Amino acid sequence: MKRSLFLLVVTAVVFAACARTQEAGSLNDPRVDKLMKRMTLDEKVGQLVLFTSDWTVTGPSMRQGYIDDIRAGRCGNIFNAYTADYTRKMQEIAVNETRLGIPLLFGYDVIHGFRTIFPINLGLSSSWDPQAIEEASRIAAREATAAGLHWTFSPMCDISVEPRWGRISEGAGEDPFLGSAISAAMTRGYQGEDLSDPATLLACVKHYAAYGAPQAGRDYNTVDMSERWLREFYLPPYKAAVEAGALSVMASFNELDGVPATANSFLLKDVLRDEWGFKGFVVSDYTGINEMVCHGYAADEADAGRLAINAGMDMDMQSASYFNYLKDLVQSGKVSRHTLDESVRRVLNVKAALGLFDDPYKYCSPEREATETLTEENKAFARSLAAESMVLLSNDGTLPLRKGEKIAVIGALADSKDDLLGSWRGAGEVQSVPASILDAIREAAGPGNVVYAEGCKEMGEDRSGFSRALTAAYGASKVVLVIGEDCQWSGEAASRSDIRIPGVQSELLQKLAATGKPVAVVLLNGRPLDLSEDLPYAGAMLEAWFPGTMGGYAVADVLFGDVNPSGKLSVTFPRNLGQVPIYHYAKNTGRPYVHPEAKYESRYLDVPNEPLFAFGHGLSYTSFEYSPVELSAASFSGEGGITASVTVTNTGEVEGTETVQMYIRDLVGSVTRPVKQLKGFERVRLAPGESREVVFDIDAATLSFYRADMTWGPESGEFKVFIGGASDKVNEASFSYLD
Ligand code: BGC
Repeated sequence: MKRSLFLLVVTAVVFAACARTQEAGSLNDPRVDKLMKRMTLDEKVGQLVLFTSDWTVTGPSMRQGYIDDIRAGRCGNIFNAYTADYTRKMQEIAVNETRLGIPLLFGYDVIHGFRTIFPINLGLSSSWDPQAIEEASRIAAREATAAGLHWTFSPMCDISVEPRWGRISEGAGEDPFLGSAISAAMTRGYQGEDLSDPATLLACVKHYAAYGAPQAGRDYNTVDMSERWLREFYLPPYKAAVEAGALSVMASFNELDGVPATANSFLLKDVLRDEWGFKGFVVSDYTGINEMVCHGYAADEADAGRLAINAGMDMDMQSASYFNYLKDLVQSGKVSRHTLDESVRRVLNVKAALGLFDDPYKYCSPEREATETLTEENKAFARSLAAESMVLLSNDGTLPLRKGEKIAVIGALADSKDDLLGSWRGAGEVQSVPASILDAIREAAGPGNVVYAEGCKEMGEDRSGFSRALTAAYGASKVVLVIGEDCQWSGEAASRSDIRIPGVQSELLQKLAATGKPVAVVLLNGRPLDLSEDLPYAGAMLEAWFPGTMGGYAVADVLFGDVNPSGKLSVTFPRNLGQVPIYHYAKNTGRPYVHPEAKYESRYLDVPNEPLFAFGHGLSYTSFEYSPVELSAASFSGEGGITASVTVTNTGEVEGTETVQMYIRDLVGSVTRPVKQLKGFERVRLAPGESREVVFDIDAATLSFYRADMTWGPESGEFKVFIGGASDKVNEASFSYLD
């Protein structure tokens, strides 16, 4: 007994020591210190400079000026350059033609896939399937590294309750708990177990922080909020990615509390390094350092560089502020040599962790590029994940379609391969998209059963195609109307002040509905839309987002019921823009709206308080029934815990997957708590008639929050737990907790 205890202790000590050495080995590489002793000031600054390549018709090309800078050791990192051949050429310059031969780092925006494009991130998050998202990130990493890349500017961890903001499409929606699970999964998927493995990619946590909360939903706009709300609602997904091991972080464009994130030492030092223990390097966003002049925070570009590096900004993306001024700033003492060295050391240590000092060409592999890209397996996975990400918003029985029935396929986006890829499509190409939605429906239904008419464009007032569309509808038994936003209407710099379906598309829907034919609307878009005017005319509505390379087939899979839809919204869909921001994590207020006729309660006079579609909503071709919530005990204390469980039954005719969601409410807190806070979810696949018990653990960690004194922990009191298939469709139970 004593001996085995001894062995256990020894093993634990040895293991802990190994873990420490491993950590030290990867981020405190002895070669880095040796190298730094030999580096000139120019060469040190060069390691903090990141410049873009240009992309021409013949592929990537670096401006000659930048190539000269690489040669001079004055530019140590480049982005937007890929292909195994091209990155090798650039790397050869850095390794063979510079004094010290320090390898370049190649970065790129691999946001939802590299060559095989998955659904946009908002779509991915609607799968509520972090495991599958991790696998998608692993595939993206394999494809990107085969093209010579080392570094992706992803995961994008920005929580947002702002549908006007175009970049809501790039994130995981409105919930910090779901967002954290996804940002950690993506980080694991990219970085794998070993960053030096040539198939793994350095992750970059962005846009740190709170970029998803711009005033009025306008991109790059001011962000301001309490520190409590920042920590509770916006920071968790960034933190989760850092905890999952991400070794780079990108600062956001916005200011926070009056200080641009780019030079915000509270964010970059106090929180990121001191509290979270982040060991990697921080990069600015594109020209973010110079933009501090426009913010009115820096006097000029040199001043911006001084402010940035002193606040903890290690690398300058594209501003050339460090490139032009950092040497002088150090020589004049405005930036200490220690500060410079710390940043350089961080960058070099990450290069070492990637294995670039062992073999700078390990990621440039034309063989891998040819064989590991857009493989049949990758495409098959993309197809199933795209189908999994789609959300059936409504259905009166119009869906699924029957093979063999005559279908009119109509709509501006029905025959577009380009829009399927979304606005930030890595190296995805339209030529790689095998089928538009129209093509895929034709294949599934048989060509003789499909008639197509475009009807109208996504934008503009042109109604001249309506009559052909109506003729097509009259000749069919059902209509599939594929409408929404042009894919360039979401993503960066794509804010909208009106979130209804643009152009005359809604009018076309109304005309088609008037034919009496059931209309299944397939939506392609990158934000929650205001669908209030459309919903009454749609027999069914399928939210397909921008579903990626295999999106055409995935839509057909769901429409015909080959895949039973299982997606759930990760963002609330408002009834109109006036309700925004509207989200499930809301507080009760002092005057919650409970009396239908009351005036002086927190309500609107012209619309209900409830959204059109709540967070977590999503239908299936089958139905699920939930038992009442059962608790293992009515109370617990201290470090103990209880379980909350429900039995879910598939009460329909077909197999289906349900995402069971658990929310909690702390009834009285030292600061007010949200009415529903997501704290658990689980996907269950059930055959018709099958039941499964789903059990969630509840312990002190589940109940913890930033208390009045800003310490993190639970408080004694009464709680509610809600379990169901959507945030507005739950069963509840009560329990108490004693600290
Ligand atoms: C975007 C970042 C992106 C960077 C590099 C910026 O405009 O905000 O998300 O990673 O460009 O392409």
